[in-house]
Amino acid sequence: MTNSPDPILGRRAMAMLDALARHSDEPDRLTRLYLSKAHRAAAEETLGLMRQAGLHSHIDALGSVVGRLEGANPDAPALLIGSHIDTVIDAGRYDGTLGVVLGIVAVQALREAGIVPSCPIEVIAFGDEENARFPTNLSTSYALSGNYRAEWLDGIDEGGVSLKEALIGFGGDPARIGEIARDPKRYRGYLEVHIEQGPQLEAEGLPVGLVSAINGVSRARLAVIGEAGHAGTVPMPMRRDALAAAAEMIVAVERAGAIREDTVATVGVAKVQPGAINVIPARVDLTLDARSPDDAVRHAVVADILAECGAIAEKRGVTLTVEPFMDSPATPMDRGLIGLLEEAVRETGVAPRHLASGAGHDAVAMAALCPAAMLFVRCKGGISHNPAESITVEDADVAARVLIETVKKIVA
Ligand code: HGY
Ligand code: MN
Ligand code: MN
Repeated sequence: MTNSPDPILGRRAMAMLDALARHSDEPDRLTRLYLSKAHRAAAEETLGLMRQAGLHSHIDALGSVVGRLEGANPDAPALLIGSHIDTVIDAGRYDGTLGVVLGIVAVQALREAGIVPSCPIEVIAFGDEENARFPTNLSTSYALSGNYRAEWLDGIDEGGVSLKEALIGFGGDPARIGEIARDPKRYRGYLEVHIEQGPQLEAEGLPVGLVSAINGVSRARLAVIGEAGHAGTVPMPMRRDALAAAAEMIVAVERAGAIREDTVATVGVAKVQPGAINVIPARVDLTLDARSPDDAVRHAVVADILAECGAIAEKRGVTLTVEPFMDSPATPMDRGLIGLLEEAVRETGVAPRHLASGAGHDAVAMAALCPAAMLFVRCKGGISHNPAESITVEDADVAARVLIETVKKIVA
């Protein structure tokens, strides 16, 4: 039977999500960037929620919140459950945070049922999955597999603050990042529950789905540098208008992303300088995000985009600089863990549906440490990265029960 008569687990999750949604860097919308004051407040809130659920918890040197429940055999390879509590700008409240609170709800439910897991269970709230503030790539989760890149500490945000400075201000410790790395032998798997951020499950009337693989992602920062001038006096043929050049490049990105059904390419940020009505734009800073389930296709799309942008810059007499900062591979999920999730989905009375993830997730980084798998939860209209993002308490309850049954299969 899919929906329980009383979705108590879903209600617990929604209450925790309400508590965490209060922590934002902006008064009138949800924005919680890595290492911001709101991230610190949400990390401390998460610490409290984990401790209430009986998890021995701390905030690690990079700002992730780590809760641990020792099992019958503390030396047995542990199970990891997690997701992220950082958000994009003007975000919804479920992206990432849902997976963290469901990990806490699952451990709480096991303890209430008097179930002592055979191995330790760790619940983790990562802090830099969106990579929306610094030019990083899943930095807080890659640290667990020992793949943290020292150059990430030098990355700067749009205010000129380096990640290192922000980390120290947050209360983190750059000198102890190495301690976060986990021994792969001590971890048996990673589970992440996440909203689908797409329309498939809703279209098929399914509350949850099984993630087969996560698409690869390329990201870069681009700068188009022309020459400021008087908008009233410089003849059109003599201009080196950075914004007109950037506009042509943005359309080229859109065209390249559309060449295949399973590729996408986006310019999400365009900052114009000096940004005055009567000044020919001198500089435009753009971001590029390109994705595909096939890494060779993704690399080819990015190469085509950069070649075309270079030609546009040449034609218009502007300079183009490109700073690639993410090359995240397409990542298949672990067949064994997917099988256990599928069993639990069937036992919950839901038809199993396997689908790929167009969005990136911490599970990509965790797959470098141990077997990883994800459960998707239906979200209204498939909307995400948008305050209209929403799920139902019943679907949160189904997801919690699938997660708990899967965890029981792994730690029994
Ligand atoms: O952009 C993504 O795919 C994810 O939401 N960070
Ligand atoms: Mn996410
Ligand atoms: Mn996201």
